[in-house]
Amino acid sequence: MNRRGPAKGRQSLMRRLVTFGSMAVVALVALAACTDDYSPYSTLSPRSPQAEDIQGIYKLIFWMSLVVFVGVQFGIVYLAMRYRRRREEGPRPPQIHGNKTLEIVWTIIPAVVLLVIFIPSVRIMYEHADDAKTGDYVIEVYGKQWWWEVHYPFMGAPDAEGNPTDLLTANEIHVPVGQHIQIKLYSNNVIHSFYIPQLQGKMDVIPGHENRLAFTVEKPGIYYGECAEFCGDSHAWMRFQIVAHEQDQFDAWVAAQNTAPAQAAQQYGTDDATGLVTPPQEFGVCLACHRVNGTTAQFATVGLEQSAGTMSAPGDARTSGPNLGLWGCRTTIGAGMLPNTIEDLKTWLHDPGAIKTGNYMATVIKPGALTDEAIDAIANFLFSLQPEGGCPVPPEGSENLNVASTGNGS
Ligand code: CUA
Repeated sequence: MNRRGPAKGRQSLMRRLVTFGSMAVVALVALAACTDDYSPYSTLSPRSPQAEDIQGIYKLIFWMSLVVFVGVQFGIVYLAMRYRRRREEGPRPPQIHGNKTLEIVWTIIPAVVLLVIFIPSVRIMYEHADDAKTGDYVIEVYGKQWWWEVHYPFMGAPDAEGNPTDLLTANEIHVPVGQHIQIKLYSNNVIHSFYIPQLQGKMDVIPGHENRLAFTVEKPGIYYGECAEFCGDSHAWMRFQIVAHEQDQFDAWVAAQNTAPAQAAQQYGTDDATGLVTPPQEFGVCLACHRVNGTTAQFATVGLEQSAGTMSAPGDARTSGPNLGLWGCRTTIGAGMLPNTIEDLKTWLHDPGAIKTGNYMATVIKPGALTDEAIDAIANFLFSLQPEGGCPVPPEGSENLNVASTGNGS
């Protein structure tokens, strides 16, 4: 018999349970207060129906885990207190090792929990795979070390024979809102992973294989993406943005990419045959690796044309760098490395290797490779690449454009 009597024992047990419960509630409230709704690299703030599907599964798993956790913790605390060893030894309680009913019950419960998680997860995986078979807009994205090349099939300016070409850009993927966007993913170097937490789950980018994903952006804005698979030195600096516009702004952006940039045309002149801007002489060193929309700089290899990974010699035709079309409207340098200001661009041109570890541009452009005059000329040319009447209106949320300053998880 309990020294204090069973009623008194139950009372003190209740008191302890209430204390534990209150502490748990305080901890939960504190945690909730720390969680910011807007976090560009977080799946906790979905901005597409597809990301909401994924969050739905997270929530299901979270609440089920919470029920299991709280149940198990209360069970442990209750049993430890109720059946703790007392000063006056009572009779030994019945031993239930090998109790068949209990064994079956605690095998079935976890199996049911797993099934409840497994069925909707698999259903949504298949739904999203079906969803990615087609799209209102098809965009091809090539994982490079360490940036992203973006192709819009048949949306580029017609070539000399009048055939449609691909519109090319890099690191900023412009899309119209409300449209089903299909992304096809390719790589010819290593495996990357294409991940826009607010819009879709991760998808591997595998050499020799085409992977697909799809999403529909509901609201104009900037959505941040990153490479989510270790792919070499600057894996952490392989960032990109989805820039979602209203349809008319998106169309304006496409048209601007396909036209000779007005200011540059005036300043540097155009090619008689094509009407494209002719870059200044100082830009010559960039031509082997960079194409520039709206200009005659169209020599660099694109897509899967380059062979695997590394560059064997400076100027090797197998390398390629980002298309620099409408550079004056870009927001970052080096796939999210620096904000795109003329000062930062000059710093980059002085010594790209000091800013982005391992990048292939640095195998050619070492400190001193370009004179200050050349750097000024190149930077001025790039910033003159803006459409007539200025860049297309940036969508809402553009105050967060600088990936470099918002990308540290804060
Ligand atoms: Cu590409 Cu990590």
